[in-house]
Amino acid sequence: MFRSIADAKTRLKAVEAGALYTEVLDAFARVFPDAPEVAFARAPGRVNVIGEHTDYNGLPVMPMAIDREIVIAFAPAETSTVTLLNVESSYPRVEFQISSAVPPYETGHWGNYAKAAAQALCEWAQASASDALPLRGIRGVVAGSIPAGSGLSSSSALVVAVACALSRDLPISKPELADLLAAGERYVGTQGGGMDQATSLLGRKGSALRIDFFPLETQPVKLPEGHVIVVANTMVTANKTGGARVVYNTRVAECRLGLEMLKHLAAPKHPAVREATLLKHFQQTVPEWEECLLGLPDDPVSVADVAAFLGGLENDVARRCLVQRDGSLLPPPKDGFSPKKRCRHVLTEGARVGKAAAAAERGDARELGRLMDESHTSCADDYGISCPELDRMVAVMRAHGALGARLTGAGFGGCAVALVPSDQADSLMDGVWRDYYQGYLPERGIAVPSERASVLFACSPSEGAGILPL
Ligand code: GLA
Repeated sequence: MFRSIADAKTRLKAVEAGALYTEVLDAFARVFPDAPEVAFARAPGRVNVIGEHTDYNGLPVMPMAIDREIVIAFAPAETSTVTLLNVESSYPRVEFQISSAVPPYETGHWGNYAKAAAQALCEWAQASASDALPLRGIRGVVAGSIPAGSGLSSSSALVVAVACALSRDLPISKPELADLLAAGERYVGTQGGGMDQATSLLGRKGSALRIDFFPLETQPVKLPEGHVIVVANTMVTANKTGGARVVYNTRVAECRLGLEMLKHLAAPKHPAVREATLLKHFQQTVPEWEECLLGLPDDPVSVADVAAFLGGLENDVARRCLVQRDGSLLPPPKDGFSPKKRCRHVLTEGARVGKAAAAAERGDARELGRLMDESHTSCADDYGISCPELDRMVAVMRAHGALGARLTGAGFGGCAVALVPSDQADSLMDGVWRDYYQGYLPERGIAVPSERASVLFACSPSEGAGILPL
């Protein structure tokens, strides 16, 4: 795994590892000239083909790891200190001690993703591998080819890459690590599900994945032969730790509010539903879930309305549904909560993933595309996570030959994906470049990106994270 710097350079060339690896190795050699040896941890970003905001509700997703990644050139440290630099000089140096209570940097600091991984592994070792304690740190340099804030999970890829470096000698399996990091990344304040970490760790070259949660299970899904997924960045930043965090956490809370009310409605006929902690359990327990959904009060509602519906106390509802990681209560959105629409999206989206995986497997690209279109509409109208730029992007993609197009990831900006026959991918991208980037962006007063390939590209499913075998 570890090699001298000179040796690593030769091996990187031999395995055709690419420019990112040479760049990060050169930077590592400059910053840590005394390091006797170096290894590389890598973790890919992801796009989600279909299944949005279903993961934290226990319902499936269908993403794939992409050929853009985070790479860390690292050497083991003697102590439990983690020291990380980034090849991008705008990211400040990170240095901290691994423990089960690492004090975070200010919100939005990139180092928090490294801290999230370290703290999660330390907690895991305390519970499951105490002879590995104290965990030893690393000295490393980070580089990446996943545009940050574009909804391609650059942040989860960083968490995963740091975790791969730190856990290289620990007896932890990849699925176990995926579960651990899904919970561990909530350290940054977003109540995310497990899709990003699982995809980055368990991605398969050549296949998308169907992922089920609680318990985590992955199944490779071949996309229809002769078709590719094109990714396009809207150039509107969806920052998970910035403004998008509160909106994201509001969706999580609205699903909880909806679940409480759905359980209340279904319990007389299906007493077992009282045990449900996720919308998945509700759907599994109540065959007539669609009908039940119609019984929810119309949106918007307040916590007081939900409490009245349940015949309970406002405080209890707030405590069950709105508590954040730091113990504070989520502020109610100014237009009120929309649990009915949110639950309708999640429950129908879960069903769409099943249909999409089946369509993909039988090579039915038209049906897969249709489901992607339907998903976008549901994300926009019921889940409220689209924006004018995403809506325009999917419309432009469809106009240029996409069989289906939708936002991907958390939404509120970031990227869209399109399914297109491989031989039409170039003409689709030319059309999108012309109409969206050169036409629409200037109209909106948004700068046109200088380099097309970093914002608009066809992607192929890649292998999951790990230590680069050298
Ligand atoms: C973010 C989260 C994921 C998932 C998506 C929406 O990427 O990190 O867990 O919830 O949003 O599908």
